[in-house]
Amino acid sequence: VTPISRRRFLGVAGVAAGGIAVGGVTGGAVATAVNHDDTANRGASSSVVPFYGAHQAGIATAAQDRLLFASFDVTTERRSDVEDLLRAWTDAAARLTQGDPVGAPMASRIAPPTDTGEAAGLYPARLTLTFGLGPSLFVADGVDRFGLAHRRPAPLLDLPAFPHDELDQARSGGDLCVQACGDDPQVLFHAIRNLTRIGRGTVVLRWAQEGFGRTSSTTTDQSTPRNLMGFKDGTNNLRAGTRLFDDNVWAAAIDDPAWMRGGSYMVTRRIRIRIETWDRSSLDDQEKTIGRRRTTGAAFGQASEFDPVDPKKVPEDSHIALSNQDANRIHILRRGYNFTDGIDPRMGQLDAGLFFIAYQRDPGLQFIPLQRKLAAHDALNEYIVHVGSGIFAVPPGVTKGGWIGQHLFA
Ligand code: HEM
Repeated sequence: VTPISRRRFLGVAGVAAGGIAVGGVTGGAVATAVNHDDTANRGASSSVVPFYGAHQAGIATAAQDRLLFASFDVTTERRSDVEDLLRAWTDAAARLTQGDPVGAPMASRIAPPTDTGEAAGLYPARLTLTFGLGPSLFVADGVDRFGLAHRRPAPLLDLPAFPHDELDQARSGGDLCVQACGDDPQVLFHAIRNLTRIGRGTVVLRWAQEGFGRTSSTTTDQSTPRNLMGFKDGTNNLRAGTRLFDDNVWAAAIDDPAWMRGGSYMVTRRIRIRIETWDRSSLDDQEKTIGRRRTTGAAFGQASEFDPVDPKKVPEDSHIALSNQDANRIHILRRGYNFTDGIDPRMGQLDAGLFFIAYQRDPGLQFIPLQRKLAAHDALNEYIVHVGSGIFAVPPGVTKGGWIGQHLFA
């Protein structure tokens, strides 16, 4: 049986549905036209995001609508196993993100199928897979596990404890992580499931987080979505394709270590929102907490969403007064998602909030000082609590034949 790639199959179907006859041209080329700038609003599910490039995809990529984040513990003691895994993950990701199944087609009826199959017939859905390396891959409990301790990037700090943190260690940390983003949760599940299978014997899942409804816009043509507090989120985010973005997100040519150049540093925080408390607060209190109007997204004292924030006109303990990027001279890329994991049985309340993801060039100069300030003074603290945390070095992208993290191990 000739394997039909999901992409090619859908390409043909897509062309037929559109009623366009393209003689001799494979439909795949039509339906998979690459468009970085598609927005979730425009229903871009048939689009494919290129896997190879100077940077890993899933950072500057226009934020997709869904997230499945997975953090792994490495269980092997052999450095070569970790290298082999990163090679195998890179190959698998190059296929999965293009809408193809992992591995070769089924060879035998008596072995389990190479690909688990649940994404067959689905669109590639702008899937991106972004890989990160946690501090504990380099040193854990003072042990240099894989001879990598001396190569640990200085910006890959252990995050300090912040006031009011209530971190669950079972939902924090990890030696390796994969951020899967796309527009179809089943495509994301398929990707993480198959990467986990490939990693069997080398890694085990430590924690995972599903997210829906992006809480940021990361390009100039995306509209601003709303978070679970009902406010527009992402108005003053960094935008891909700008100098400010490049200078603040990517490890630069002058930054050490050399193997991280073109990479970035990711911080994740599982932030629970006390939904019930928020819902009992007046509109006035809610707006004072954020510093923006709920309906329009305009900052206090301004008429519309993108009017610049005037720090003199917003309450001084409001979230946007304290996080103001120009005043702080701290810019980060926010790329988080709303989440809900049912109810918290201890309190009978919704376990929901914002899975915060930030990308930056140096967390010691960006996330850490900013979060110190917010944790100490932000009016938002009455309604939120940080319950999970992670920090990862995200190596640069690869060209065909290369593998993620290759230059770390070289
Ligand atoms: C559940 C937690 C959070 C919620 C609900 C939230 C919500 C918001 C909202 C509604 C805005 C205004 C719109 C915008 O410019 O995007 C905003 C802005 C911002 N937030 Fe948050 N945020 C949260 C956590 C954080 C954290 C943990 C950080 C960083 C440590 C952060 C950093 C920022 C920054 C830098 C801005 C833009 C400030 C500016 O320059 O105008 N936020 N956030």
